[in-house]
Amino acid sequence: MSLIKTISFKPLGDERGSLVALENNKSVPFDIKRVYYIFGTKEGVSRGFHAHRNLKQVAVCVTGSCRFVLDNGKQKEEIILDSPLKGLVIGKMIWHEMYDFSGDCVLLLLASEYYDEADYIRDYQKFLKAAVK
Ligand code: TYD
Repeated sequence: MSLIKTISFKPLGDERGSLVALENNKSVPFDIKRVYYIFGTKEGVSRGFHAHRNLKQVAVCVTGSCRFVLDNGKQKEEIILDSPLKGLVIGKMIWHEMYDFSGDCVLLLLASEYYDEADYIRDYQKFLKAAVK
């Protein structure tokens, strides 16, 4: 089974341009408690390198593009996010890395929980141990 689960958002645009609306438990499969965005990422920078014990997220590249590597401890898969109409679901206990950000990339993250550093696993060996349990 693929690790890559994407959601296609319905474009609500008209002749004036485009619009996407994201709603709790409808377009996004959880209650959104937090929204953050990553932008102005410098060339050559990679981010992420962690998994979350409980947090679920959906990532949307609102402008530009970037690459995601998702890893469940057994399988690794990669996807390019390059459309504001596509959301990438990042489930709990998925190690993720992001790289190859275009200069104009704005990466929007919708998160199921408030920020909690204790929910992070930032050590890959610890992640592997927790993931195989
Ligand atoms: P971090 O999660 O390390 O970024 P990356 O996505 O590259 O792993 O977050 C960078 C810093 O921002 C870190 O000091 C924690 C802080 N932060 C918050 O305070 N609130 C948040 O919602 C997020 C995502 C990060």
